[in-house]
Amino acid sequence: MKFFLDTGNLEEIRTGAGWGIVDGVTTNPSLAGKEGMDYRDLIREIAKMVSGPISVETTTNDPKEMLAQAREYVTWSQNVVVKVPATAEGITAAMALRDLGIRTNVTLTFSVNQALVAAKAGAYFVSPFVGRLDDIGHDGMEVVRQAVQIFRTYGFKTQVLASSLRHPLHVTQAALAGADIATVPFKVMEQLFKHPLTESGQAKFLADWQKLQAELEKKKAKV
Ligand code: E4P
Repeated sequence: MKFFLDTGNLEEIRTGAGWGIVDGVTTNPSLAGKEGMDYRDLIREIAKMVSGPISVETTTNDPKEMLAQAREYVTWSQNVVVKVPATAEGITAAMALRDLGIRTNVTLTFSVNQALVAAKAGAYFVSPFVGRLDDIGHDGMEVVRQAVQIFRTYGFKTQVLASSLRHPLHVTQAALAGADIATVPFKVMEQLFKHPLTESGQAKFLADWQKLQAELEKKKAKV
């Protein structure tokens, strides 16, 4: 399973890229809005740090305008994947973009049928929003599980990008469900490394090592 960072924050992306585990980045208008930068400048800066796919979201309900935005976005970087919503208009745009050879990420996907339609439209990624479904009392991960199963059954090439993940358990569950990618906020990616027993165990190993070095020094001094 690949890891994408779900952020537009350049500092977070720089740190994550330094860890070597960031395979791509997802952005949306809300995340980009937090950075107060021109969207094109932001994406170009991200592309300098990450060699994998960068999802850039269209900001209209009109399929023709989605196409126009997509044509512009792909000039910003060859890594750009264009996000369109899982609406009739978004799917219409996704099909046209597929015919133009432009990769799409069908976002705001909340049902298995939306994922199925996205796959039939030739989407490159489909993004089930797990956390937002959990928020309203549904099992968001079930959409990931069923989409993976259906895509395997029919041989769809569309990759399942588990999105709106809120905590490390979501990452484990996405991997168990067979998601191709998990996109996570920086805080969650940071948590993937953390375990209190690792921290206390490493502290003890280093302390014991220092103790041994001190004893050896003492022995040497006596000789
Ligand atoms: C990613 O492509 C989505 O835009 C993102 O995961 C949404 O996450 P949220 O539900 O935490 O806003």
